[in-house]
Amino acid sequence: MKKKILVTGGAGYIGSHTILELLIENKFEVICLDNYSNSNEEALLAVEKYTNKSITKLSLDLCDYDSLKNSLQPFVNQIIGVIHFAALKAVGESVSIPTKYYQNNLGSMLNVLNYCEEIGIQHFIFSSSCSVFGDLDSSLLPVKETTPTSITQSPYAETKSMGERILNDVSKNNKIKALSLRYFNPVGAHVSNIIGENPKAIPNNLVPVICKSALGKIPKMSVFGNDYSTRDGSCIRDYIHVVDIAKAHVLALNYLVDVQKENYEVINLGTGNGVSVLEAIEAFEKISNQKLDYILAPRRSGDIEAVYSDSSKAKELLNWEATSSIEDMMLSAWNWERKLND
Ligand code: NAD
Ligand code: WQD
Repeated sequence: MKKKILVTGGAGYIGSHTILELLIENKFEVICLDNYSNSNEEALLAVEKYTNKSITKLSLDLCDYDSLKNSLQPFVNQIIGVIHFAALKAVGESVSIPTKYYQNNLGSMLNVLNYCEEIGIQHFIFSSSCSVFGDLDSSLLPVKETTPTSITQSPYAETKSMGERILNDVSKNNKIKALSLRYFNPVGAHVSNIIGENPKAIPNNLVPVICKSALGKIPKMSVFGNDYSTRDGSCIRDYIHVVDIAKAHVLALNYLVDVQKENYEVINLGTGNGVSVLEAIEAFEKISNQKLDYILAPRRSGDIEAVYSDSSKAKELLNWEATSSIEDMMLSAWNWERKLND
């Protein structure tokens, strides 16, 4: 029997793309655990159909330890690692309701870690975020794993920063080896168009906003700030294709299980290329062959001017690098949004 990987939050955007890649690799069986608070089972059913493989699907809230333990009882001794995606991720909501974010994101993580210690699961991958770098000084770009982090800009980002510190501490007991993957700005959808970003909450991230606004599903979009000290005045981010991120998880899991010596590692997952908001809009206009109607608006509170990754550590340790251009990412996001619209 194949060993199993527990994927928490696996019905979500990055989780579903990662499960698809794990099933294609065909080395492990997948147990997906999700409370569907920001997703639904449809993505998992689509992945099963596409790969012709089955996923064990458990519906429960990770904040409920007894239910976590009971539902995994049939699989004790079969699970060799966890990829922990489950979290709430709406930055604005985390500012208005911080307790919800600390409770959900840290409560669920601590329960999973407790469970791993209790039954002896030795490998843990954590979804971290470039938001741990906080209000970054542009002189520190591109950011390396060793770049000092500063005060985070939201309770959401703080849960990621605290998550990393918790893992660093927990892994010292030699029971769990852990790896934090810091994603920059994941965008796009699987090339088959069977899965993509389909949150229950209204998205306010740039790429879904561009696509939904082009489809007339939301009002004319705003570019938040054109007076930054960047090449065109708009903010710069490191947009990365979700499939590149998903593939990195498969490599990271093999690295963690077979190679990693340290109890705890951190790896950035970005392309290394900064793209401005106006450049992202231009890429969208090119691939969709239509002009986007937008307004230049004031800066959005909490935004930093620029962040992009130095991804040489991922190349060195995982032999991974991002492959998609901003146009590829925009095209797959656009195809997915049009499918959702139909
Ligand atoms: P998502 O919302 O699509 O997926 C998260 C999943 O976790 C959802 O399916 C949700 O239902 C589930 N979940 C949340 N709380 C749960 C709980 N208590 N019990 C069980 N399931 C629970 O988000 P995503 O974009 O796929 O993000 C995955 C991870 O990556 C998150 O930890 C997120 O913070 C992190 N991350 C995301 C981004 C991004 O821009 N998408 C960037 C950096 C880091
Ligand atoms: C990108 C740029 C906006 C919408 C967020 C989280 C971060 C991480 C990645 C999880 C910014 C501009 C946006 C719009 C705009 N997620 N923009 N008009 O803020 O870089 O990062 O996702 O860990 O924690 O904060 O991503 O897509 O919201 O914004 O001009 O309608 O697009 O101002 O410069 P962000 P984003």
